[in-house]
Amino acid sequence: MGDIKKIGILISGRGSNMLSIIEHIKTHDVPAEVAIVFSNNENAPGLEKAKELGIDTAAFSHKQFSSRKEFDQAVAERLDEKGVDLVCLAGFMRLLSKWFVRHYHNRIMNIHPSLLPAFTGLDAQKQAYDWGVKVAGCTVHFVDEKLDHGPIILQETVNISNNDTADSLAEKILEKEHEIYPLAVELFCRGRLTIDGRKVYIENE
Ligand code: GRF
Repeated sequence: MGDIKKIGILISGRGSNMLSIIEHIKTHDVPAEVAIVFSNNENAPGLEKAKELGIDTAAFSHKQFSSRKEFDQAVAERLDEKGVDLVCLAGFMRLLSKWFVRHYHNRIMNIHPSLLPAFTGLDAQKQAYDWGVKVAGCTVHFVDEKLDHGPIILQETVNISNNDTADSLAEKILEKEHEIYPLAVELFCRGRLTIDGRKVYIENE
């Protein structure tokens, strides 16, 4: 049997992307295991869902730490205990320290609900809607030291019509998120991604 990649998923909220990754691993025989789900929010609904699925969880707030780096080191300790190979940010609403990004160099992924590099930061779907764009979408990318900036792995688009609202757009984008995030994780776990500067090459695309 080949190498099984250990995944740590970091969440702050409902965890729908987390669930889509867990489900995809099962249904597509991805050589991976979600070894831990961590949340900075002890009340994140996604934590309960992970527990129901028998996945180990950990949760603590940054408030008891004196710096971002110290909090990140405590998180990394939990992940490293589990031998995590890949860290997936799935609605994790905290910026990561340079220390954390370097510790997991090219091994952190994020999903962002816009076609990067447009509309970085919070409420990306509403930013796109308010701008009046006709095509919106989502991006899975590797995480570097700048916000919503690292090398792009996959993107998917949605069209915006007259009837759309910011909320309906967010729903349409979320459906696409649930398609491309698990796929990017699968590509990583099957060793099919190569990063060269800003470019991510997919083997046998
Ligand atoms: C998603 O829209 C994701 O793109 C953004 O935060 C949201 C998380 O949703 N980063 P969920 O917790 O995965 O349901």
